[in-house]
Amino acid sequence: MRKPLIAANWKMHKTTAETRDFITAFVPLVKDVEDVEIVIAPPFTSLAVAAKFLKGTNIKLSAQNLFWEEQGAYTGEVSALMLKDVECEYVIVGHSERRQYFGETDETVNKRIKAAHAAGLKVIMCIGETLEEREAGKTFDVLKTQLEGALKDITAHDMLVIAYEPVWAIGTGKTATPEMAEEAHRFIRDQLAGKFGQDAAETIRILYGGSVKPENVASLMAQENVDGGLVGGASLQPDSFAKIVRFKNS
Ligand code: PGA
Repeated sequence: MRKPLIAANWKMHKTTAETRDFITAFVPLVKDVEDVEIVIAPPFTSLAVAAKFLKGTNIKLSAQNLFWEEQGAYTGEVSALMLKDVECEYVIVGHSERRQYFGETDETVNKRIKAAHAAGLKVIMCIGETLEEREAGKTFDVLKTQLEGALKDITAHDMLVIAYEPVWAIGTGKTATPEMAEEAHRFIRDQLAGKFGQDAAETIRILYGGSVKPENVASLMAQENVDGGLVGGASLQPDSFAKIVRFKNS
């Protein structure tokens, strides 16, 4: 049985004071939730304050990126060890915004996953097709290539979560239909079975991301292979993110 995972990807939002205010308001709204794993990914500058206010709660901390070297002359970068130091359990890797604006490739995603795993960080690895690729009928080819490249020589399947995020659905208000999500997730699970074996593939959570909201989360989560959500815009307000976490009540 895969435990659902709902993760907030705050992207470049929230100062330290806003982070503290969010967490103070959010914790009581979800403190009784036991059957869903809850993760928040603030920007780097808010990780330490988030760790402080999340201590002793049922909410886990994630970073949004990392660099693969342990230390050195890499101005502006942050290592896996530094993320462990501020009590991150997860790190998001390969988000489409990183691929689009910061030159992330399957090869660099692969290096980041290896560094994260070596440090004991769990990874939420993002993949997904653009609108152009979908319309050209290339969705499965793109997902297959991304999975093969990013997961090369990765063996720690128990430290891995996949987020399927169709690029055309991110921040656009356009959500994949539950059927479209399920079709992609089914395909991803088959690919994971080819790589890690069927039993292992059955244990890996595959999250859907792209305009997840309180109104559509339940229908997405009802799909057999949708095991959670990676939520951007709708995770910035405590009420809205709590409703998503509590999708079973909706
Ligand atoms: P969105 O972002 O929910 O604002 O579409 C999701 C994501 O990019 O992780």
